[in-house]
Order: sequence, then C-alpha cells, then structure tokens
Amino acid sequence: MSEQRTIEQELTAWVQNAMQQAFPGAGLADVHMQVVATTDARHGDYQCNAALALAKPLQRKPRDIAQAVADQPHDPACMERLEVAGPGFLNIHLRADWLARRLEQVQADDRLGVPAPGAGRTVLLDYSGPNVAKPMHVGHIRSTVIGNALDRLHRFLGFRVVADNHLGDWGTQFGLLLLGFRRFADAAAYEAAPIEELERIYVQSYTRSQADPAWLDAARAELVKLQQGDTENRRLWLSFVEHSVREFDSLYRRLGVRFDLVRGESFYNDRLPGVIALLRQQGLAEESEGALVVRLEAEKLPVCIVQKSDGGYNYATTDLATVLSRVEEFHPDAIVYVTDERQQLHFRQLFAVSRRLGVATRLEHVWFGLMRLPEGTFSTRQGNVIKLERLLDEAERRALELVQKTSPDMPPEQQRAVARAVGLGAVKYADLSQNPQSLVTFTWDKALALEGNSAPYLQYACARIASVQDKYRAQFPGGDPQSAPLRLGEPLERALAIKLLRFPAAVLCAAENYRPNLLADYLFDLAQAYSSFYQNVPFLKAAAGVRESRVRLCELTARTLRRGLDLLGIEAPERI
Ligand code: ARG
Repeated sequence: MSEQRTIEQELTAWVQNAMQQAFPGAGLADVHMQVVATTDARHGDYQCNAALALAKPLQRKPRDIAQAVADQPHDPACMERLEVAGPGFLNIHLRADWLARRLEQVQADDRLGVPAPGAGRTVLLDYSGPNVAKPMHVGHIRSTVIGNALDRLHRFLGFRVVADNHLGDWGTQFGLLLLGFRRFADAAAYEAAPIEELERIYVQSYTRSQADPAWLDAARAELVKLQQGDTENRRLWLSFVEHSVREFDSLYRRLGVRFDLVRGESFYNDRLPGVIALLRQQGLAEESEGALVVRLEAEKLPVCIVQKSDGGYNYATTDLATVLSRVEEFHPDAIVYVTDERQQLHFRQLFAVSRRLGVATRLEHVWFGLMRLPEGTFSTRQGNVIKLERLLDEAERRALELVQKTSPDMPPEQQRAVARAVGLGAVKYADLSQNPQSLVTFTWDKALALEGNSAPYLQYACARIASVQDKYRAQFPGGDPQSAPLRLGEPLERALAIKLLRFPAAVLCAAENYRPNLLADYLFDLAQAYSSFYQNVPFLKAAAGVRESRVRLCELTARTLRRGLDLLGIEAPERI
C-alpha cells in the first residue's frame, strides 16, 4: 500500500492546512490538532474539536473558527460534506465510494493499512523480571502478559525491539539461601520442585535469622563469599538460577513469550563500583548517615540511596548500571519498564538520577495495579509458579467444557487444541483488556464469557465469520468475492467499514500510550459492529455483487480481529 498514513492522520493534515489557510499568519503551523472517528454516525464519520481549543488564541467563537475551516475547499471525491455542530465541532462526512476504495486498499495490504513509524528506532522493553528462587507472583505474570503485548505491538510497527528479562538473581537473600540450603535442603524435593523447595528453605532460614544473630552473621559471611567469587557458593547459586530459569521458561513457552536477552541483576555486578565512582566524580552523590545518597529535592523526591552504610549496593545501583549499559550497547530511543504499581517511586528516582548522569534516552515506567483474585478461587499463595501452572490448567479445563458444549461434534483432539487457545486467551485477555492502572478482580465467569468483552467472545466471532465464508463457498462454488468491488450502501455496512478503517489508529494509539487495553477495546467494538451488521443485513440472500461485497467485509473483519488478537499474544483458532 503506497499510502502510509492512517485516515485520521490524513484528515488531520487537511484540517491543519485548512486552519492555516483560514487564519494565515496566526502561527498555527505547530498547533496540535486531531481528527478522530466519531462514535455516533449522526455526527459524521470523523470529528475534530480543534476549534474549541483555538478560541482563546484566535479570539473568536469556536463555531466561527470551525465554520471558517468548513468553508475551505476540499476534495469532493473524498469529503461529502463538512458541518459545524454543537459548541464548535467540525463533523466530517466522507463519501461511501471513497471509503470503499480505501478499504479495498487496506484489504490488499498485508499490514491492513498500519504504518511502520518505528522503522530505524529501537525500544528496549524490560518486562517479566521474576526473582530467582522465588515463585513468580501475580505481578510478574501481569508484567509478562502486558510486556509481551507491547513487544508484539512495537515489532509490528517496525521498531527494533530488545526484550530483556531482568531477572532478580542477585542480592542479600542469597546469603540466607546458601546457608539454609547447606543445612536443611531436601534433595528429592529440590529435584522435584526446585522453586518450592528453595522458597521453603528461604523462609526457614529467614525465620531463624530473626531469632538467632549468629545465624544472620553466618548468612552474611556466605553472601560475602559468593560476592568474592567463592567456587562452591557460585556453583550453588548458579544451580538456583538454572533451576529457576528452567521453570520460568516452561511458563514462557506455554504463554508464547520469548526474550532477546535474559540478563539478571548479576550481569551488572562488576559495573556497580564504576557507577558509584561516576556519581562521586560528577559530584552527584554525598554521604548521609554512613550511606551514599543522591539528593533529589529539585524533583521533589526522597533521597536515592546508591550505596548502603555497610558498603553494599542495592536495587537502585544495579538499575543505574543497567541503564548505562543498555544505552551504551543498544542506543535505544526508549527504555520501557513494565512492573506493578509498587515500584513507581523506585523508577522516578532511577529516571531522575539517570537524567543527572546525562542519559537522554526516553525512559518510561509502565505500571499496573495488581489483579485481585477473589478469595476461594485460588489459594492465597496466588502467584506461585506451580499455582500459575494450575491456573492455566484450570483455564484450559473450563475452556474444554465450554468447547464440548458449543462444538460437541468436533474431534476430541481438536477440542483440546481449541480449549488451549481459548483458556490461555481468556487468562491473558483478562489482564490486557483492563486499563492497567485500574483495580480489577479476576473471575472465571467474566474471563470465559461468550458474551461481553472477553477473549472467547472475540475468538468465537472469528470462527463464526469463517463459517459464513464456508457457507458462501458451498452455495456459490467458483464465486470470487475479491473481484467484486466493495459497496457500502447500508448504514450498518458503512459503520463496519469505518470501524475496520480504524484499526491502524487503534494499534498506533495502544503502542504510543503503552496501553494494550486500547487495542482490546477496539477489537471488542469491531466485533460488536460486525455482529449488528451480520444480524441485520442479508448475506447469502442478497443480490449478486452485494453478496460478494459483504463476504469481503466478513473476510476483512476476521483478518483484522485475528491480527489484533495476535498483537495481544492471543491465538484465534480457525474453527471452534
Ligand atoms: N525483579 C523485579 C521485581 O520482582 C522486577 C524487575 C524490573 N526491572 C528492573 N529493571 N528493575 O520486582
């Protein structure tokens, strides 16, 4: 497709130009204006509210400004009419045949009209980041699912993505673990379920350290030995890491997630003294109560401790070394961190100190609230890796029941494959379809609902569309819908077309704002527009030509839904 701009971008450019023509010399060249699809066809197909914001600078009534834009010459082959509405909205009505040609171009394009603004740019995505020797908690799972959707979205938009899993594989807990492991590890349990056993050991060792100062001292000594490279401690530590990574990997495989890099905190260990030296050298760090801190009063943030009074480094020190190393190695245009809400202060401090060190790269913290699990659905040890496996098993089991009910005639093998896609999709979509910053409670009924905003609803919509296409082929063998021109005569057809044309904007918006739920909302909207179209407009009984055009709209809807779900990391089986 030669046209690399979305409709919204094109119309925005037109409004911008018309505005400048209407008000020459007003210095409007850089003013931000935006045209968006309307939610109600009575307000036209697209709308712009720029006149409202310009009333003050232009010293005119918004309606007059909008009218002046509407009076500018426009391409009659594209715009049917422009009208001013309400306090000063500009409503744009497009010609149905122009929309149809545009949609035909989209249909002929592999990328469904989505531009690739990321070409030549690099984004480093830091997501998942579970801690070694501890079960992945529910926050890591959300980070994995949301991070992976951002990963897919950015790759599709042409960015070079470096997906880095920043494992928590270093830190004080390893002293307690090493000591505890030597004293009370159960070899068989470690073999069978390493993370559970390590967690048990850690809890036991930690509890003992609270009551027994000698135990705590011994643990500290183990940590120092590890940090100094003691062979035996390194060997044990490495085995903790390897066992943990193996368990995490089986989960990632199941979720369809893969990373370009898995660099734990330990990777940066050698660079920590250098970070401290740099901070000192630039006069950014100072002593405070024996610790070394960076004061962030200008940013209205609490001091950031970069070296503890015992000389040890912390999470902030490691993350500073990580930023510097990533900037140097990958020259990213942005580094994006996906974690739960509890790390907001950490990242604000990290970004502030990084700026002072001269890091110019865009730094973003994408945070989300923790998903609540209603009592009784899962045990309180919610995030446990084993429990997550069970959560996914449970999702597949429930999905299988659903599939057996909806498709009793499907061969059992296929039912299981569909149940896998539907079950996993439901769990992922429950994470992805919510505003990440709102509080959500996971319920099976909502996640697996066949009506409402859920993965199964969208997956079933794809499959139902496929069956319409099957029926067409059976009744009209040799028919070739793609050779018939698209026609958008009916209001519901037109509404569906407008929705389909919004896909590029939805993808761009979800990626730009780091909010996959904006794409999920769009897909749900599209599925609903399709459903009213399908229920109210005759298909196979329509006249020749109209019928083919409608089958084309079906095909394009299915492709758009599928592509959208894929960008969210969700599979849509061909048939359900
Ligand atoms: N391991 C951390 C945790 O469990 C998440 C890591 C996030 N990434 C980072 N560069 N700090 O909370």
